[in-house]
This record gives sequence, structure tokens and C-alpha cells, in this order.
Amino acid sequence: MTERDSTAPAVSLSREEIEFIVKVGRMTVLEAGSLIRKRAEGSGPETVKNKAAFDFVTDVDRLCEELIVGRLQSAFPHHDVLSEEMDKTSAPTPVQWLVDPLDGTTNFIHGFPMIAVSMALVVEGVPVCGWVLDPLRRELFEAVRGEGSTLNGRPIGVRQPGSLAEALVGTGFPFRRKELLDPYLQVFQKVFREVSGVRRAGSAALDLAYTAAGRLDGFWEMGLKPWDVAAGTLLVEEAGGRVSDFWGGSTHVETGHIVAGSPPIHTFLLEAVRSGLAPLLRDQ
Ligand code: IPD
Ligand code: CA
Ligand code: CA
Repeated sequence: MTERDSTAPAVSLSREEIEFIVKVGRMTVLEAGSLIRKRAEGSGPETVKNKAAFDFVTDVDRLCEELIVGRLQSAFPHHDVLSEEMDKTSAPTPVQWLVDPLDGTTNFIHGFPMIAVSMALVVEGVPVCGWVLDPLRRELFEAVRGEGSTLNGRPIGVRQPGSLAEALVGTGFPFRRKELLDPYLQVFQKVFREVSGVRRAGSAALDLAYTAAGRLDGFWEMGLKPWDVAAGTLLVEEAGGRVSDFWGGSTHVETGHIVAGSPPIHTFLLEAVRSGLAPLLRDQ
């Protein structure tokens, strides 16, 4: 018996399996997107509940989750599915779907049109297929590891700004960790002084998809969840960008402390968070 190389993944998916995953993933995300679009163009959410301070869930998040989880569980009965609003905490399993049925719920509640469905298939901690759908603009960002990133079927790539002064970057505010507002603002100042603009659009999944498409040159946020970033991380990497945690390592899907961008902008943002926020987050 030959021993398995300990660095090789224990689970490997065949070409046929990947093709089936891509087909089902795409159909599922588009179906969820039409549900959201109908509600956004119609009555909007009927119920809005507080999950925690400044953190909301609506009936549309839940309906969308039900649809996605149902589709995935019936197509892939042996895969684990972890979705944001499920009443379940799950240790990572070798093959797992990570789902954010509606990213940007606060935007959705206010009719602010930056919302997304985010879905990724993660194998042994590594995102292998990812989708971020903007249902309102009908933009589908997709990536398969090793095969590049696309927007509505066309290849996309990160932008290489000529200088920092030309860069447009995105961020998210630490609204769940307001005690970290001062160090966050110090990092913000450092970045803001150098770049051409900073955007806070309110959907981390779209921020990452926009970075992959070169609409943003980089993005940083702390304390996100695996379902916010798994698909977007793959999109950026497959579009030629870099993604890391605040220490330059690869715990970003797990910790949610994430820096992404075209290589030079990633380096600049990493330096800013490494000195400002990283030491305060070491054990979190
Ligand atoms: C939120 C959005 C937002 C980010 C928050 C996330 P949700 O996701 O991605 O941009 O700043 O941290 O929780 O709760 O709307 O799915
Ligand atoms: Ca989210
Ligand atoms: Ca959500």
C-alpha cells in the first residue's frame, strides 16, 4: 500500500464532479437571486428582527436560506451545508458549503441597492468553487480554483493602479466591535491619506467581488464570518489578486480579519492593519 502524501488533500473532486457542482451552484444562486429581486422590487421584507446589536435578519434572508439549503442538500446529500441563519454551529468538515443567503441585510432593509447572495464550496478549508450574485444588477461573479474568475461568463482580473494615489479601496466598519473603533479609525486615516478614495458599501461579498473585477483596488475588514468571505476570497485569488489575514497568513476565512487586493495594494493595506489592528486581535 502506498502512503498518502501528507500535504495532498484527502478529498479530491473529479472533473465531472466539479462540473456538476458548478451547474447546481449556479442554478441555486440564480434562483435565490430571483426570490430576493422580487421582494426588493415588491413589498421588501415583511419582518425584521434584531439578532444582536446593529445586526438584523428578515423573512427574506430565511426564505432564501431555506431554498438554497434545500437545493444543496438534495443534490449533495454527503456534503455539509453551513448557512448564516441556521441554528447550527458546525466544526469544519472536509467538504462544506458556506452560504450567506443575503449579504447586506441592513442595505436590503433600507432599499440601498448593494446586496448579494454568496456561496462557496470549501474542501479541507480551501474554497474551490465560489459564487457572488448581485440580484439587482443581475451580475454573477463565479470562480473555480485554477480556472479563473468571471463576471456573467467573461473573465475578470484585478486592476493594477499606477500608484497608491490612484487606488480606490473598500472597507467595512467594526459595528459589532465598537470598542475597537479608535484603532480602526487610525488604520482608516493611514489608508485614507494615501489613496484616492475609500468606500463602505455594506456587502463584504460584493466588496470582494468588486476587487476581483478591478472596480475596487483592495478591501479590508475585521470580524467577518466564513460565509461572508469564502466565495469572495476565491474570486480575488483567481482574478490575480492576493488575500490574507491581518498577519499575512491564511486564516482569513476562519477569523474574518481580511485584507485583499491587487498585489501592491494588498501589501499596503496589510502593512496598515498589521501595525494598527493586528496586535489587538492576536487571540481572537
Ligand atoms: C454584513 C455585510 C457587511 C459587513 C458585516 C456583515 P450581513 O453581512 O457583509 O458589509 O460589514 O460585517 O455581517 O449580516 O448583511 O449578511
Ligand atoms: Ca454577510
Ligand atoms: Ca447575511
